[in-house]
Amino acid sequence: MTVPQVSSRALVEGPVYVPGLPREYVAAKYGIPLDDIAKLGSAENPHGPSPKAVEALAKMDPKLDIYPDWTARPLREAIAKRYGFDPDCVVCGSGETEVISLVIRAFCGVGESILMHDPCFPIYRIFSTVEGRVPMLVRMGEDFDPVVDAYVARLAEKPRIAFITSPHNPTGRLLDETEVRRICDAADRETLVVLDEAYIHYSETDGMMHLLREYDNLIVLRTFSKAYGLAGLRVGFGIAANPDLIRPLRNIKPTWNMGHLQMAGGAAAVFDDEHVNRAVATVVASKAMVEAAMAKMNAFRMVPGCRSNFFLTEILDPDLDSTAVFNGLLERGVIVKDGTDIEGLGPRYLRVDLNLQKHMERFLGALRDIEMSKVA
Ligand SMILES: Cc1ncc(COP(=O)(O)O)c(C=O)c1O
Repeated sequence: MTVPQVSSRALVEGPVYVPGLPREYVAAKYGIPLDDIAKLGSAENPHGPSPKAVEALAKMDPKLDIYPDWTARPLREAIAKRYGFDPDCVVCGSGETEVISLVIRAFCGVGESILMHDPCFPIYRIFSTVEGRVPMLVRMGEDFDPVVDAYVARLAEKPRIAFITSPHNPTGRLLDETEVRRICDAADRETLVVLDEAYIHYSETDGMMHLLREYDNLIVLRTFSKAYGLAGLRVGFGIAANPDLIRPLRNIKPTWNMGHLQMAGGAAAVFDDEHVNRAVATVVASKAMVEAAMAKMNAFRMVPGCRSNFFLTEILDPDLDSTAVFNGLLERGVIVKDGTDIEGLGPRYLRVDLNLQKHMERFLGALRDIEMSKVA
């Protein structure tokens, strides 16, 4: 039987993203009450959605029958006001993920290359590969050092796009200003430097948006899914001082990609510092608690250097691998990310969120249990 053919085999055979499992899956499979499950695989906000966003959504007229402004103007205006840029310097997406896909299509042709770390947020690599772009990988160093020297050296090959992530997913490593400047200075004028700051709030720094005014080939991406707790609403954005970087993204995006609800939620959340600060305080306290507890373990280690709301657990026991530990944790009501589902990370690591203390205690208890049951 003849069927329409896709434009590229990679669209059929290429990699797909493996998201963190939902609570409902674990509850149904292992009979654990939903509220007891520690969901530590999707980097969501420990305190739920921004109350300012919830209030704005409850109060608004959702105008369900009326098309929204196709450029998401109300949301662009709120973001621009928050960060001191012109609204024409902002493009909004259905999650930052959509903005990443727009950047790749707009600034890199088929067969051209895109620089990124290995490992990295899998979406950079997946979208590049399935759309015929060529990922150029810079392997991270010991304990996932971002090896800026090696990254800068590859910039000499003039990739069309250079992705950097700070804090980095899945390692949580933060690039300091000197390192980001080195990368921007080394990039060819025709290379677009994309700085993904999805987790920046958790680093307790303001991030690098101020560098946008110095580098007109730099764009910063952010999301409302993490510190604002709006992963289910789907809101993200790109911002650049140079509107020539933004216009093409606006022109190729699916025309009405942002609905009234997304815009109203995002526009309220962007001013909700109280909610962000609460999430950051919880994450920082949980990190100290987990770090101290894991220092006493033999089979597992917290990889140092994380500045995000997740960290890597290294499996030191040679008889265990990430899938065995991942499944052992699931049975005990704990969802994490298996390193084998993140290209370049592999079977010695798990990515684990920092969340409420009670969830972290469940994680630590389950790890101890796995360690013990192996010995028994
Ligand atoms: C580094 C990084 N960038 C971007 C995103 C995309 O977030 P969203 O599409 O939910 O806005 C994620 C989500 O996990 C991420 O880890």
